[in-house]
Amino acid sequence: MVERTQAPIMELLEPTDENLRRAGACIARGGLVAFPTETVYGLGADAFDARATARIFEAKRRPSFDPLIVHVASIGEVGRVAEIPGAKARLLMEALWPGPLTLVMPRRAEVPDIVTSGLDTVAVRLPAHPVARAIIAYSGTAVAAPSANPFGYLSPTTAAHVAKGLGDRIDFIVDGGPCAVGVESTVLDMTVDPPHVLRPGGMPAEAIEAVIGPIDSSPAPEAASVAAASPGLLASHYAPRTPLYLVGAGRIGQAKPRGRAAALLIGPSTPESLAAIQGIFDQARCLSPAGDLVEAAAGLFAALHELDGAGFDQIWAERAPGRGLGPAINDRLQKASKK
Ligand code: TXA
Ligand code: MG
Repeated sequence: MVERTQAPIMELLEPTDENLRRAGACIARGGLVAFPTETVYGLGADAFDARATARIFEAKRRPSFDPLIVHVASIGEVGRVAEIPGAKARLLMEALWPGPLTLVMPRRAEVPDIVTSGLDTVAVRLPAHPVARAIIAYSGTAVAAPSANPFGYLSPTTAAHVAKGLGDRIDFIVDGGPCAVGVESTVLDMTVDPPHVLRPGGMPAEAIEAVIGPIDSSPAPEAASVAAASPGLLASHYAPRTPLYLVGAGRIGQAKPRGRAAALLIGPSTPESLAAIQGIFDQARCLSPAGDLVEAAAGLFAALHELDGAGFDQIWAERAPGRGLGPAINDRLQKASKK
């Protein structure tokens, strides 16, 4: 008899149709599957199965007060989990879904309390990634999925990030390559008027306002406690282990690094401007030399993962300008800089 030297671990699946069916069936049976969305990798379970969703919290070591986003395969499925609160919510779904926008709406009683943390609302999203959509459709249910990272650590934008953080605690990871958007969805509270941005993310405020007019983008109050309306607002979140310090947009020259330090620039940059700071940093990395915030967001978490693994004493990052995906990038940098 062959002796088993290792405990069985999760399987990394290529996104073939057969594997997407297996992943969907695994969710339908109460399993946990990590899969790519256009924003970040999610860790999914059947949203109507309280035991399965409890395993998400256990795998992430996530405090049970933090509610999960429920992912649906089509707009028609929203009514299974939420009550669409009015014309603006419907307009947003029709104009911007599938995409990186999560709508907080009154919940249906069928959604277990563990998914909503007992709130009377539920966060719902229709992701754009074909792999996510196929898995949700094959599961035949709605899929509760937070980002597939250990609680409080950087979000995963590749299957390798997921495997490193959670690989020993989940059934399958479906590998769909790197995520195109790279920051989590924008979370918008549709139970108030004007709707309020609870978390800036992959859908810029400008795009939302083009559909429904003015929204409230004032920062949701920063939460130090479990009483937060939206616990993704916890001050320290998405954090690397290496201390991270921030300077204003275009002001990396103001950094005062100590020890072995890396610089993370948003861009624009030129070979000359990078050379100018080589003297004070051991490495300088620019997310988008052309200054394209979509490109910068897409590479943000991957760059932080990599720099965090490279043994620097410090990381210094510059903020993004406040337009487009800039607020989402700055929100993640701000949280990554707090311990
Ligand atoms: O892009 C994304 O949104 C990714 C992918 C996997 O879809 N998911 C994600 O989930 O970022 P998670 O769990 O890491 O973040 C969910 C955010 C948290 O800030 C949570 O507090 C908030 O949504 N949220 C969930 N339900 C809520 C509710 N009923 N009311 C207010 N905020 C809620
Ligand atoms: Mg998260």
